[in-house]
Amino acid sequence: MEQKGVTVWFTGMSGAGKTALAIRLEEELRKRGLRVERLDGDIVRKGLTRDLGFSKEDRDMNIERVTFVAKLLTRNGVAVLASFISPYRAARARARQEIGNFVEVFCYASLDTLVERDVKGLYKKALAGEIENFTGVSDPYEEPESPEVTIDSGTETIEESLGKILAKLEELGYVPTSEDDSAYTEDEEAEIEARLAALGYL
Ligand code: ADX
Repeated sequence: MEQKGVTVWFTGMSGAGKTALAIRLEEELRKRGLRVERLDGDIVRKGLTRDLGFSKEDRDMNIERVTFVAKLLTRNGVAVLASFISPYRAARARARQEIGNFVEVFCYASLDTLVERDVKGLYKKALAGEIENFTGVSDPYEEPESPEVTIDSGTETIEESLGKILAKLEELGYVPTSEDDSAYTEDEEAEIEARLAALGYL
């Protein structure tokens, strides 16, 4: 099967599991022989968008630039895994519109869970007023209204969440199912089944 380009767009608050899931998905898609590129806020902001901060204007510019990159890759048949908080619905809608083959994955976790986890120690600082415009604390996060997939990292294991995303990508025809891997066409399979049945094996 010829690989069809797609952008899987992970949105959600810091610490909700976007990067972890994208890394697992990358591994899984590579195993299936697909071309993959991962774009991640923490990495992109050290290079392509290092001049930007966290005002609405800067976040919108951040998303605009990575949307451009994701669009180029997607139209060349790559599976792009983009993980950005991308808190504004309108910016995500523009990304969807520009890129076309777009699968939005809403990574949810309750604020209590995020504060409890606080892997980077940022929520503690934000709650103490040491970081301005911190998403979910002192800056908005607009939840997606109709994402293709919603995962809850507070109640699901990463493997469960991964399973939901893979199932959706298979359903939409972006990832081959194990049946697509068959060396036989559907007609040939039917023929083989008929012969086996005639011989009494089925
Ligand atoms: S986005 O809003 O423009 O999409 P992006 O995903 O690129 O954000 O970057 C988010 C990362 O920047 C967070 O994971 C966190 O490590 C860091 N960060 C620093 N300041 C903030 C802030 N004020 N709000 C959210 N994240 C911040």
